[in-house]
This record gives sequence, C-alpha cells and structure tokens, in this order.
Amino acid sequence: MPRIAYVNGRYVAHADAFVHIEDRGYQFADGVYEVCEVARGFIVDMPRHLGRLNRSLTELSIDWPVTRGVLPIILREVVRRNHVTDGLVYLQVTRGVASRDFVFPAGTKPSLVVTARKADPAAAAKRAEGGIKVLTVPENRWDRVDIKSVGLLPNVLAKQKAKEAGAQEAWFIDADGTVKEGGSSNAWIITRDGVLVTRPAEHGILRGITRTTLFEVAAKLGLKIEERGFSVAEAKAAREVFISSATTIAMPVVAIDGAPVANGHPGSITLSLRQAFFDVAEKSPA
Ligand SMILES: Cc1ncc(COP(=O)(O)O)c(C=O)c1O
Repeated sequence: MPRIAYVNGRYVAHADAFVHIEDRGYQFADGVYEVCEVARGFIVDMPRHLGRLNRSLTELSIDWPVTRGVLPIILREVVRRNHVTDGLVYLQVTRGVASRDFVFPAGTKPSLVVTARKADPAAAAKRAEGGIKVLTVPENRWDRVDIKSVGLLPNVLAKQKAKEAGAQEAWFIDADGTVKEGGSSNAWIITRDGVLVTRPAEHGILRGITRTTLFEVAAKLGLKIEERGFSVAEAKAAREVFISSATTIAMPVVAIDGAPVANGHPGSITLSLRQAFFDVAEKSPA
C-alpha cells in the first residue's frame, strides 16, 4: 500500500513528495508543526492542536497556508488515504519558498505538508508496561520554546545523547536545577501524597496538548494537580514520574540518569491516567 502525502495542494506518492530547496523551512527552520495522535479511527484533540498551530503561526507572522476550515479536511483525507486507524498525522507550515534572504520575503505563500503514519497500539501498550528511561541534559534551547517551531536541533542532539545512554527521552534542566521538559514531551511527577506536579507553561516549555487534556483526565479521576517547578532530586524521590505527548500519552518513567524511580516499575496512577485519556480527549472522526 503506497503512502500518500499532501504537499502544497496535491496528494502525491510519499516517495515523490518534495519541497523546493529554497523552502525557508529547509534553509532557516522558518516554520512550525503539529502532531496529532490517531487512535481507533479518530484524530485526537484536533481542535486544540489547530488552536496551538494558530498561536505558533501568529507568533511568527506566518499566514495560514489554507483556511482554518479546510485544514481538518486535509488532515482527515491524508489519514484516510493512508488507511491509518492508529498512528499519527503530522503537519508542517513554513514561510514558503523564496530566494535566500534572512528577512521575511514579500508575497510568498506559506508551504503546507501533511503526512500520516501507522503505529502499533499493542507495542505502545507494551512500552508503557515497562516504562522508559530518561537522561537529564542542560537546557540549551532558545527562549521561545513555547512556539512549536521546526528548529529542533538541540532536541535532536539531546535525544541522541539519551539514546546512546540507553534512555528513551532527554529532559532539559534549567540553570537552577529544575526540570523543564523532554526533547519531545512534557515532564510530570506524582508526589508521595498522590499530587500531580508539572511545570507552569506560561513560558520556558511547550504547552503540550496532551498536558492540557491530562488536566481534565486528572479532574475526572479526582486527582489534584500543582503547576510548579520540580528538581531532578524531587523527581528521583517521587512516587511516580511520567512524560506526556500526543504520541506517548502518559508514559511512565522508571529511571532518571540510571537511578530507578520508586521501585523501578511503572506507577499505577500514571497507568490509570493513560487508560482514561481516550475517553476524555476530543475525538474527530478521521
Ligand atoms: C518539546 C516538546 N514539549 C512537549 C511536547 C508535548 O506536546 P503534545 O502533548 O502537544 O504532543 C512536545 C511534543 O512534541 C515537544 O516537542
């Protein structure tokens, strides 16, 4: 079954899906993206993802590449054409193609690319049963990580370092020793009293859509959340630790820098959050 991508108004074979060498995404990382989970035939939390896309575009003064009403149709079509029931749909908007110059080009149309990929929910469930390991790295990213920009080189390097250390995620640590977020996820702990703790998202981290929906999941389960910073030491001593993102939902963390978290097994509260997530999340039929 050939994969299909959407590129600037056309549905094309994935193998023939190209953007121009002078696309500003390629030259300057001058673009933004979103990733939505596809689960059981639904696109999860699509309105929230498109709301955050709007914010990212506005912050960078990039126009919408298509109208806001048309983008969900394209996302659904790419999911449908790729027969994705479980997996993800990825969209990327860049400032467009223009002769290489740092300043914004005049009259350039933004580029839009949409792809979709299948994933195996059984494999994800198995990963959650075992939990993942995290490696901490010093924060070295720019100040506007609240924008979901395609400029992800520090994240690439951090996650590669984590992989080489046998871990599956890297955590960026602030100069004051507090945990910011993962290379592609938000960071959470659960205290001995069963309170969920995650860093405020006003600045310094990406306001994860999964993070936002988990606030609602926690409320449904009667769990308290505190939005505050926490240190690596507090995380290592926590009852449970987990990360959140559209592709991992709530994923237990069982070790930080080689030291086991709690008893080294996924925690039950994290697993119950993970279990309840789909019922609470907004589901748009694909
Ligand atoms: C740096 C970073 N933080 C947090 C997240 C989690 O965001 P979301 O829950 O919207 O996937 C991501 C997702 O890719 C990310 O790249």
